[in-house]
Amino acid sequence: MIDKDKLPRHISFIMDGNGRWAKERGKDRFQGHIEGVESVRACVKAAVETGVRYLSVFAFSEENWGRPESEVHHLMDLMGKAMSAEMPSLNENGVRFRVLGNRERLSGGLRREIEACEAMTAANTTLDLIVFMSYSGQWDIFQAARRMALGILRRSDSIETAEKALLASTPGDFHDCLVTADIPDPDLIVRTSGESRISNYLLWQAAYSEWLFTDTLWPDFRREEFIRALENYAARDRRFGKIK
Ligand code: IPE
Ligand code: IPE
Ligand code: MG
Repeated sequence: MIDKDKLPRHISFIMDGNGRWAKERGKDRFQGHIEGVESVRACVKAAVETGVRYLSVFAFSEENWGRPESEVHHLMDLMGKAMSAEMPSLNENGVRFRVLGNRERLSGGLRREIEACEAMTAANTTLDLIVFMSYSGQWDIFQAARRMALGILRRSDSIETAEKALLASTPGDFHDCLVTADIPDPDLIVRTSGESRISNYLLWQAAYSEWLFTDTLWPDFRREEFIRALENYAARDRRFGKIK
């Protein structure tokens, strides 16, 4: 068992390699995505058992909209199906479910399903499961900048007062405009499938995250790998630019 004070409060996953997992087995890419949902389920279960408080997954990036229409359709459909299949047990286990990203690009039907799941689990406090959908780090920073500027403009009666408010604003005010405002920054980000890049994920929030890159393909990332990632994190020395 890992010491509670050595656990990441927030662990995040760039779930990559579903397509390659399927290809290796002569299956359709979509089978890889289905298997990937099982990995999310296994990680959520392990997070609840170990006492991790926040678990987030990068499920679909803004760039992923550029994939063939059939794959995009399958992924959206899978999201809806996985939500309705998993929600009762997530709710029973005290999991709060949230989706963050550019919701305007999601279909009305999916949006309504997401809202219903979020409302149903809103009071749960054992684990927050955050799914980043239609998300990108640059999009988040851009919408935050716009939101902050609009907020200041709406509260100001002249250019001068707006200018004053803008100059008095802090990075903390900006942080509060990101979609992750009420979620602690990820302590550990795991990227599967052997790629060593950020792919436009949490650009602002990852400023001091620990990173773990593993060759394991996401559909193979299950409980054992999750525990290994926690152990790896527990052995790290985080200094945040200071001297210990
Ligand atoms: C991750 O697996 C899932 C999404 C990005 C939606 P990929 O679909 O990127 O799988 P590979 O990288 O092609 O193997
Ligand atoms: C990153 O995976 C995005 C998600 C896991 C949702 P991609 O497969 O889209 O990333 P690239 O194209 O390899 O950078
Ligand atoms: Mg990929």
